[in-house]
Amino acid sequence: MKKTLVLLTSLTMAFALTACGGGDTSTSATSAAQTEAVQTEAAQTGAAQAEGNTEAAPKADASGNDKLVVGFAQIGQESGWRDAETNDVQWYAARNTDTIELSFADAQQKQENQIKAIRNFIEMGVDVIVFPPVVETGWEAVLTECQEADIPVILVDRGIDPSAGEDLYTTMIASDHVWAGEQAAIVMDELLGGQGKVVELEGTVGASAAVQRKKGFDEYIAANCPDIEILDSQTGDFTRAMGKEVMESFLKTYDDIDAVFCHNDDMALGAIEAIKEAGKKPGEDVKIIGVDGVKGAFEAILAGEMNCTVECTPILAEQIFDTAAKLKNGETVDKWIMSADGVYTADKVTQEVVDGRQY
Ligand code: AHR
Repeated sequence: MKKTLVLLTSLTMAFALTACGGGDTSTSATSAAQTEAVQTEAAQTGAAQAEGNTEAAPKADASGNDKLVVGFAQIGQESGWRDAETNDVQWYAARNTDTIELSFADAQQKQENQIKAIRNFIEMGVDVIVFPPVVETGWEAVLTECQEADIPVILVDRGIDPSAGEDLYTTMIASDHVWAGEQAAIVMDELLGGQGKVVELEGTVGASAAVQRKKGFDEYIAANCPDIEILDSQTGDFTRAMGKEVMESFLKTYDDIDAVFCHNDDMALGAIEAIKEAGKKPGEDVKIIGVDGVKGAFEAILAGEMNCTVECTPILAEQIFDTAAKLKNGETVDKWIMSADGVYTADKVTQEVVDGRQY
């Protein structure tokens, strides 16, 4: 019953915050099915608790608990991609309750909430702490506390400022964001025939995924595309709503935009709406490249309204829990466990490919 109580606590936190969150969510059909199954499990667990079980949360191995206890401090719900990652982690844990206990917190986009959640996990004595740092900087104190408590830390999908010191965390499971920016630039060069004016919709200010995608894109264009000009570059905070808003303002300011590079697909989907409302054809009058590979972007590419998405998989749960188990057993793992991602231009996107997308 210890395990079910932790699961209930985590799921209750997650779903309560999901219910009141105001961010963009575009959970895929698969994710919705997963969520439903997890909710069913949570409801069953809740029924068991209502029967009078009020045990306290376990203290990992100290209390003789041999299950893998993982604390996951999620950023929030800024994108469909983020929801897919959350659902994958919760689904995997819910399917493996015989070996895994997950305590999940939703930080609602705030670094201070992620730090609070991590401190809470230290108090609980979890085996491993997992989190995607909302921004790159400001983690030294709390990561030092994790070290002092001898709790390994897995960074997922984003990193921290390398100058803070790589020994502050144990490993990172993430895509190569610089590579993603470079791939977007290579495709942009091809789409524009080496000549044109581009705007850029950046992700959350200070997030490694935004900093590195921008670096990869801008540096490739500067070094290889003398006739491509980046007119403007502003944050859309990785959300569809802000992507639309910032694209609207770009379209009002510049009447000669040939293309937009969006640091994620949710912002690209927002940009498509803005371009349509401005009376232009997305994918034709204004070329659009995104990052993530969410189903909505694949559908837009198939419809001719978007030109490319560079994949960044959120399906990381199996790797996360396998790596956490190794760390609990005292094994050494690579410092960066890199995801294998693809580049999807229109020629690679068919209905079959769209139907087969997991997120
Ligand atoms: O860190 C990964 C990024 O965070 C994804 O590209 C984006 O959609 C998410 O919000």
